[in-house]
Amino acid sequence: MPGPRVAVAAAFLALLVPAAARSPGAAGCEVPPGDRFDCGPERLLSRAGCEARGCCYAPAGPGPPWCFFPRGYRSYRAENLTATASGYTARLRRVAASFLPGDVGSLRLDLALETPTRLRFTLRDPARQRYEVPLPTPRVSGRAASTLYGVQVNQDPFGIVVYRQRGGRVLLNTTVAPLFFADQFLQISTSLPSHFISGLGEHLTPLVLNTAWTRVTLWNRDMAPVPQVNLYGSHPFYLGMEDGGLAHGVFLLNSNAMDVLLQPSPALTWRTTGGILDFYVFLGPDPKSVVRQYLDVVGFPFMPPYWGLGFHLCRWGYSSTAITRQVVTNMTAARFPLDVQWNDLDYMDAKRDFTFNKNSFKDYPEMVQEFHRRGLRYIMIVDPGISSSGPPGTYKPYDEGLKRGVFIRNATGQPLIGKVWPGPTAFPDFTNPETHEWWYDMVKDFHDQVPFDGLWIDMNEPSNFVEGSQDGCPNNSLEQPPYVPGVFGGRLQAGTICASSQQYLSSHYNLHSLYGLTEAIASHDALLRVRGRRPFVISRSTFAGHGRYAGHWTGDVGSDWEQLYYSVPEVLLFNLFGVPLVGADICGFVGDTSEELCVRWTQLGAFYPFMRNHNDHGARPQEPYAFSPAAQAAMRNALRLRYSLLPFLYTLFHRAHSTGETVARPLFLEFPKDPNTWAVDRQLMWGGGLLVTPVLEPGKTKVSGYFPAGTWYSLFGDSTIHSKGQWILLPAPLDTINVHVRAGHILPLQEPAFSTAESRKKGMALVVALTPDGFARGDLFWDDGESWQSFEKGDYTEILFLATRGAVLSQLLWASAHLDGVLLEAVTVLGVTSPPRQVLANGALVGDFSYRSDTQVLRVPVSLPMWEQFVISWS
Ligand code: NOJ
Repeated sequence: MPGPRVAVAAAFLALLVPAAARSPGAAGCEVPPGDRFDCGPERLLSRAGCEARGCCYAPAGPGPPWCFFPRGYRSYRAENLTATASGYTARLRRVAASFLPGDVGSLRLDLALETPTRLRFTLRDPARQRYEVPLPTPRVSGRAASTLYGVQVNQDPFGIVVYRQRGGRVLLNTTVAPLFFADQFLQISTSLPSHFISGLGEHLTPLVLNTAWTRVTLWNRDMAPVPQVNLYGSHPFYLGMEDGGLAHGVFLLNSNAMDVLLQPSPALTWRTTGGILDFYVFLGPDPKSVVRQYLDVVGFPFMPPYWGLGFHLCRWGYSSTAITRQVVTNMTAARFPLDVQWNDLDYMDAKRDFTFNKNSFKDYPEMVQEFHRRGLRYIMIVDPGISSSGPPGTYKPYDEGLKRGVFIRNATGQPLIGKVWPGPTAFPDFTNPETHEWWYDMVKDFHDQVPFDGLWIDMNEPSNFVEGSQDGCPNNSLEQPPYVPGVFGGRLQAGTICASSQQYLSSHYNLHSLYGLTEAIASHDALLRVRGRRPFVISRSTFAGHGRYAGHWTGDVGSDWEQLYYSVPEVLLFNLFGVPLVGADICGFVGDTSEELCVRWTQLGAFYPFMRNHNDHGARPQEPYAFSPAAQAAMRNALRLRYSLLPFLYTLFHRAHSTGETVARPLFLEFPKDPNTWAVDRQLMWGGGLLVTPVLEPGKTKVSGYFPAGTWYSLFGDSTIHSKGQWILLPAPLDTINVHVRAGHILPLQEPAFSTAESRKKGMALVVALTPDGFARGDLFWDDGESWQSFEKGDYTEILFLATRGAVLSQLLWASAHLDGVLLEAVTVLGVTSPPRQVLANGALVGDFSYRSDTQVLRVPVSLPMWEQFVISWS
């Protein structure tokens, strides 16, 4: 790799024009509509108002801004670019008047060449410490000696250009529009090398964003998912694909309310309302590497306990222990696997956290103990809002919280009181270390009574049923900033607490979108301390870096087909965000499901990394046993299929945890050079080896899926696709989900059971999908399934499986005792082109193998210890 190249260029000096009134025909205004950048984002401007800003006015219908910057519009000029230990620094000076209040006239640019594939640049106010996101990011000393990127700093107008050293493709070019850095309005634009942009969650959106004038707003919000609306989480990260299959990523480490605007040029504008501009650029060069490079910054995902990958069942409305027990009994009677039974608010006394109803849940602790005896786990909901209305001395979480000063404060320094399920509530400030201690104490107290296994943290955007607080919000610039992004409800306080309320680290204005993340960290840590085992936390609200501590479910999705489809890109996107433990409420949450929808949803849900069926209060029952025998049979198959695949899924989670891979994966991650895959979001992969093609529409018995070039075997060995890279119509009657194994992969499977406690002891199997030249590989990660940091402590087993030249063998890469007693009982080899005459297992003849020449499937029954190396050969 050539050395890093940074240069100051004056390339745009020639285009400079003074900021003065101009008309559409004026110099600099000949900008094609798709390339126009909005000069009046904060309010509608008349021609006169627009021209007073030195901008161009040209009414152009919907889409392009009517008031836009002329080319060469001046804002900042770069001066004194000098080398530092980590890269470069420069001073930026504003050279033309700004139309924004609180403009910062002088900025400091720092460019750090952190690694060969990662560049960081920040823009700060050198005169004043501004809020910065308290995310632990890697400390890097020195600078990368050689990089995949080159950087150019344009002097006037200031701008940064990042390009690939090889080939010179520009990935980021901020000279396309002026930079703004005012107290509550920071804006920077860039060109994009292609229209393929994915990321910028959380929204109900296809995998690929639309660059035809789309505004994507980030500000965590309790909102039943609908398109184009800011939802529960904020992930200011995008991945861009480039012609030829290379990929890059950009992360803006900023937690303020923001808009990201996409336009046809193609170009992208970041417009945020506070903090600093802190960018990471990842050079890939392939999309998997981009994800890993992003996770190097925000953190690799936590390792879930094995039971967390089983089936979870929940609903709002299991209103007593008797009913909750009955659900578990019904599941067993109907022979459905179940690992984790959940309760919603119903268990609480007056909907208050850390209490339980002494009538309907009077034997609550016994119920949970009983579940444990049956090999099940138990999780209940906890909301952040702490009931504040009882007389002092009656509710410990509030009394203690008050004493220990853990609540977010209003303008007068008192706990801000909003309203959630229990009525008036205070909101713990999880940026305060004392709050973590208090939360731990509450979790422990409750766990001492009810031995739950994980935490479901809901309503943590935080959600508030009154706007701001019971007393409204003060009138100040944090509540009414000069620019309000396109947040649902039109105001920052809508559905949440006052922006100017005070937290330990800063104002809620800055910290709002971190609420769920900080609560997830507190919950993860509390669970670890209380249980001493791997924590399991599922959170509704998220921020960049969330996956390190917790998983996510996609909130209040409707029970309809459109939401079924959208769950695929949601799950894929959260995997790109480093939150692989994600799933939507199976069968939908809001509204009544239908039998067909619920069957299809269960089939797809069997491939959500987090698989939970959850239902709204009052909606039609949707537990698997609530349907006709035929529907139940289809759901049972889907569940059994998932349980069979759990060793493979667990191994993928290990890889996510240890090396920053994705679990559920969009096709383009595996096939970046095939542009047909880039927008595929009605299929998903597990790892690199399994492709799932679900039915997402009603009344269908066939489904069309894209199969990248190569050989794909049906997991069940009954058909093979030799694809040239094409769409293929697959049979998909209601009892069928299409799952294909990619040639070249070996998947470890296990006989399913009614819980993972049982299935983990059952016999294992391998599915070996040979390439046309007879090769395949795979692996298995195994440990006790719940010890904290078993990988880090070396207390695990890792096996590599290799197939080549008519044999499949295992190689123990690392061994512990956890697999002892588990036998390999079957090996299915897909793609054996000629009938074998003999099959040997560790040198001994296997008499009862079977082979079918029509499907080219060889089945070998064996009984071999998994904890020892083996060779199975056929000839
Ligand atoms: C909102 C959550 O999104 C939903 O899953 C839950 O059932 C309700 N709150 C009640 O707790």
